[in-house]
Amino acid sequence: MAADAGAATMAAMIRSAALDALRTRETARYRERHPRSAALAAASAPHWLYGLPLHWMRDWPLPHPLFVQRAQGAELVCADGHRLADFCLGDTAAMYGHAPPAVARAVAAQAAAGFSAMLPGEALAEVGALLAQVFGLPRWQLALSASDANRFALRWARAVTGRPRVLVFDGCYHGTVDDTLVDLRADAGGRRRTVARASLLGQVHDPAASTVAVPFNDLVAVEQALAGGDIACVLTEPALTNCGLVPPAPGFIEGVQALARAHGSLLVLDETHTLSSGHGGWARVQGLVPDLLVVGKAVAGGVPCAVYGFGEDLAQRMEHARAAAPAGHSGIGTTLAGGLLALAALRAMLAEVMTPAAHERMSQGAERLQAGLQAVITDAGLPWSVTRLGARMELQFRAAAPRDAGEARAAMDDALAAALHLAWLNRGVLVTPFHDMLLVSPQTTDEDIAAVPAALRSVLGELLA
Ligand SMILES: Cc1ncc(COP(=O)(O)O)c(C=O)c1O
Repeated sequence: MAADAGAATMAAMIRSAALDALRTRETARYRERHPRSAALAAASAPHWLYGLPLHWMRDWPLPHPLFVQRAQGAELVCADGHRLADFCLGDTAAMYGHAPPAVARAVAAQAAAGFSAMLPGEALAEVGALLAQVFGLPRWQLALSASDANRFALRWARAVTGRPRVLVFDGCYHGTVDDTLVDLRADAGGRRRTVARASLLGQVHDPAASTVAVPFNDLVAVEQALAGGDIACVLTEPALTNCGLVPPAPGFIEGVQALARAHGSLLVLDETHTLSSGHGGWARVQGLVPDLLVVGKAVAGGVPCAVYGFGEDLAQRMEHARAAAPAGHSGIGTTLAGGLLALAALRAMLAEVMTPAAHERMSQGAERLQAGLQAVITDAGLPWSVTRLGARMELQFRAAAPRDAGEARAAMDDALAAALHLAWLNRGVLVTPFHDMLLVSPQTTDEDIAAVPAALRSVLGELLA
C-alpha cells in the first residue's frame, strides 16, 4: 500500500478490502471463546437495563458483554478464564495496576474499622500533607468521583468570583457535569455557537447561558471569551484526552493561565487522565500551579474518591464566600465523600504506589509501546500516529497529533476502531473502548507490551493483504 495515500483514502481502502470479513471472523471467534460471558449476559438481561449495571457499557464494541472474574496488576481474567493484558486499566482508574497490594491491605484493614462516619478519620492530617507533597498545593477537599470534584470546583469558582459562566474547550469531557456537556457548532452563517451535546438525555437547560466553548490551542478565542468579564473559570485538561489525544501546543496552557489571571478568572485543571504525565501530574511536571486542581479515578487506586486542591489565597476566598452565604446546603459535598475507606486508600496510594519510580517505569514502558506501534504503522505505510503523554497514548488515524477536537474527530473511524479492538481482545490485549487509548501500568510486562504491536501487525496483515 502506498505510503503517501491520504488518511481517508487509506481507511476507505481498508474498509472495502477486508474490514467486514475481519469483523465477521473476529465476532465468531469471540462468541466461541466466551460462552460463560454470554450466559452471564443472558442471566443479567431480565434484571438490569440493557442487562448491564451502566447503560453505556453496551457501547463496548463487542458482540456481547465481557464479564470479569478478577483484575490484578496489569491483567484481567474474564469469566471464561482467558487472561487479558489490560491496557484499558479501567479507563485510568487502575492506571497504577488493579488492586495495588498496598491499597488492598489498607482497605482490608480499614474495612474492619469502619467505612464512613460523617466525621474525619485520624488519617486526615497525614493524607493532607501527602496531597500537598505530591501535587504541590496546600489545601484540599474530597469528593466521590471526578465528576463531583469538577462540579464542586465550578461551584467554588462561581462563588468566589461572583461570575456566572465557565469556559471549556470543544471536545472536552469532565464527567457528568452539566456545564461541560457542550459542543461547538457552526450555524448556517458559519458562526460558532456553544450548544448542548446532542446525545444528552433529559437536557432542559440551555448550556450557552452558563458555558462558552472554544477550540483547544486557540489563545485568540480564549481571550475573546474572557474579555466579556463574566467567566468564573477556565476548566480544562492540560491535554484533551477524551476525543482522541490532543496535546497542548507549547505554552498554550501557560497562555490560558496568563489570560485567565489578566481577566480575573480562575484556571481549573482537571488532571484525572493527565496524571499519566509523570509524578504529580502534568502541571507538577511543568512547574505550573493552577488555581484549582482536580484528580479522580486513579488517585485512590480505583476506590471511589476524588480530590481537589487549591492555594491559601483561594482557600481564604472560599471561606469568605461560605461565611457570606446564609447557613444551609452549599450544593457541595456528598455523604460518602471523604469516608474512612477512601482516606485509607488515598494514604496507601500517595505514600506507597504513586511514586516517582512507578511513573518512571510506566513512562519507559509506554515509550517502548509507542515505538513498537509506530514501527508497525510505518511498515504498513499507514498515515497514522501514536501520541503519548507519559504512560498514556492514543493511536490516531492521522499522520500527526491533532491540534483541536475538530481535527481529532475528523480522523476517527468507528468501524475500523471497533474491528481493531475486537481483534486485539481475541489476541489477549484489552484496549480502551470509544477511542484507541492504551495505558501502561507499573506492572505491565515487556511481553505484554510486545504483544500489542505484534497483534496489530497480524491484523493489519489480514486487512491490507
Ligand atoms: C478528564 C476527566 N475528568 C473527569 C471524568 C469523570 O470521572 P468520573 O466518571 O469518575 O466521575 C472523566 C471521565 O472519564 C475524565 O476523563
